[in-house]
Amino acid sequence: MGQLLGKNFLTLKDFTPDEIIYLLDLAADLKDKKKNRIPHKLCEGKNIALIFEKTSTRTRCSFEVAGYDLGMGVTYLDPKSSQIGKKESIADTARVLGRMFDGIEYRGFGQEIVEKLAKYSGVPVWNGLTNEYHPTQMLADMLTVRERFGKLKGLKLVYMGDARYNMGNSYMITCAKLGLDFVACAPKAYFPDQKLIDECQEFAKESGATLSFEEDVMVATKDADIICTDVWVSMGEPEEVWKERIDALLPYQVNMKAVDNAKDTAIFMHCLPAFHDLETEIGREIHEKYGLTEMEVTDEVFEKYADVVFDEAENRMHTIKAVIAATLSEEI
Ligand code: CP
Ligand code: NVA
Repeated sequence: MGQLLGKNFLTLKDFTPDEIIYLLDLAADLKDKKKNRIPHKLCEGKNIALIFEKTSTRTRCSFEVAGYDLGMGVTYLDPKSSQIGKKESIADTARVLGRMFDGIEYRGFGQEIVEKLAKYSGVPVWNGLTNEYHPTQMLADMLTVRERFGKLKGLKLVYMGDARYNMGNSYMITCAKLGLDFVACAPKAYFPDQKLIDECQEFAKESGATLSFEEDVMVATKDADIICTDVWVSMGEPEEVWKERIDALLPYQVNMKAVDNAKDTAIFMHCLPAFHDLETEIGREIHEKYGLTEMEVTDEVFEKYADVVFDEAENRMHTIKAVIAATLSEEI
């Protein structure tokens, strides 16, 4: 027990399959406790800092609610109001926060920033999303998949869209670690970086996973168990990339044709936020400029699988709670 005590959570590359499954089991147990109103203040008296250099709904709320449920104090640092990066270096910030807090969450830009925080703070650091990886999202997704299918190994997961960024990279790593068959379905230019593919092929050898990269939507989605996607333009990317993304990725929109080509039992997943209608400011701007009414997923697909997608959102909290407890609590 206590196998992950004191450990950072920066990318799932750093975790063995057994450790990932341990976190999923712990999350399932904590979810059960929460549903049954069984107190689980496993980190009573500890304090955590949440640094957000990019905006968030799910990740911030998950860390806050999880922190309170575990009996901790929680301090939120928003994208503008701290000295981080502007007046104070990451190394200095880390050394200050490490004196006051028992753990630090970071959401922001390059992976090297969260690595530096971990190096200098002396306390566990959790990656709440960087340009490269979104590991807490992966635990939520895998818990949701396991709840639906009762297993992970051997399932075929197809990621459609920009497979070079945090979500595509993270799905490839997670599938490779846990023995799912991963397919990146995108134009060639949007496939993950070859160096990461090579690393993941090594994980796949151990787990029995397969990794494939496919431009043809009908080939990719055939017999899929899980189809997932993400926004075409991520936080921090310049507005100018919208046109190129729409041109390249519109054929990879998750629509009923793609879903109907998958298994009858298939599910659709999305980390959210999603552009599936015109109920957002950006959605309306894109509509005015390019005439699209829905982007990475059609409204029809989104609403058909809304119960899965919102289970996935809820599971962010239970899985993040597991990460905090596993790395900070002496009681488990
Ligand atoms: N999926 C996710 O990370 O959502 P937020 O950006 O709202 O945290
Ligand atoms: N790729 C998206 C994920 C949001 C949860 C982004 O980085 O904005």
